[in-house]
Amino acid sequence: MIFKWNDKYNLGITSIDKQHQQLFVLGNQLFSIISKGDEIDNYDKIMAVLEELKNYTVYHFNHEEELMEKLNFEAYQTHKNEHENFVEKIIEVEAQNIDDNQNRITMQIIEFIADWIQNHIVKSDHQYKNLFIESNVE
Ligand SMILES: [Fe+2]
Ligand SMILES: [Fe+2]
Repeated sequence: MIFKWNDKYNLGITSIDKQHQQLFVLGNQLFSIISKGDEIDNYDKIMAVLEELKNYTVYHFNHEEELMEKLNFEAYQTHKNEHENFVEKIIEVEAQNIDDNQNRITMQIIEFIADWIQNHIVKSDHQYKNLFIESNVE
């Protein structure tokens, strides 16, 4: 397991914490796929997780953005831009020749997720924490 959940990731907002934990699950799935060695063809598995990652992203970002908009979160636009960059990165990765570079590209996504956790979840998502909690978001 490469991604381990701990308290510093918790916002104390149940729906969002659950969704963030799902990102850890997907990151760990990718890591476990490539841990089995690069002589195995993992293309279908990698693509399946990427698809899930995209669905997760759409669902989770919409959830946050709807709440931010409703509660007039001041950094809404900046935050939304960060979400859009994430989606663009996934699309960019998918446009590469994944089949011939399975482990390298998967590692790239894992690093991207790790960076996202430290910079977006720990920093940007924590900026709306108090507002959401005061507004009784669950
Ligand atoms: Fe988030
Ligand atoms: Fe966010």
